[in-house]
Amino acid sequence: MQLCIALDLPTMEENLELVKKIGNVPVWLKVGFRSYIRDGKEFLKEIKEINPQAKIFLDLKLYDIPNTMADAAEEIAQLSVDMFNIHASAGEIAMREVMNRLAKFETRPLVLAVTALTSFDEKTFESIYEKSIEEKAMQFAKMSYENGLDGVVCSAFESKMIKEATSSKFLTLCPAIRPFGEDASDQSRVATLELARDEMVDFPVVGRPIYKDANPASKVEKILRVIDSF
Ligand code: C5P
Repeated sequence: MQLCIALDLPTMEENLELVKKIGNVPVWLKVGFRSYIRDGKEFLKEIKEINPQAKIFLDLKLYDIPNTMADAAEEIAQLSVDMFNIHASAGEIAMREVMNRLAKFETRPLVLAVTALTSFDEKTFESIYEKSIEEKAMQFAKMSYENGLDGVVCSAFESKMIKEATSSKFLTLCPAIRPFGEDASDQSRVATLELARDEMVDFPVVGRPIYKDANPASKVEKILRVIDSF
């Protein structure tokens, strides 16, 4: 299991300050489209200068026609990015085209597919996808596996099921993690680190429980110690 910290603070300065506070530790840092649109490549470079051990997950959730997605994937592969994601609902052709286009790179970023956005409730989700969230998430996960992706973004509560239906090596990255049962905020179903371990989650994503903590560095250390003990 590898900790992924969401850099969701409102400005570049605050995000970089958080990276500095956390220090030179082996973590993944999630950069979302708000900060990428505003702060761009320079931000990614600065993160790696501050923490050379950090790996970057660019959370842009690509969704477009296959050729446009593959073009974007190729550009991402030339950034200092270690993982990015696409929407599974972009379909199999888009998945294959993205992976084919990345094949020429000696080292390529990992590619994950978003199954279901966590903001959906069942009713809204079904009105778009005509299936329950769980059913569709499983279908999307199998499709992503069969088309050569490295893993999926999913709920921690679906992680084990997805691995059983695909492969234990098929990666799961899961938001809504409250490492020690902290305040759930707007997340509806939250999982602790223990639950994430039981569900075989590869990347627990933690935002507010770290950056809202009075001492983010010690919180990260505490989380890393627990992960090491697993
Ligand atoms: O809740 P937390 O601050 O730990 O969120 C970490 C990440 O989880 C966010 O960057 C966002 O991508 C995702 N998130 C989510 N559903 C929400 C709120 C946040 O998936 N309702």
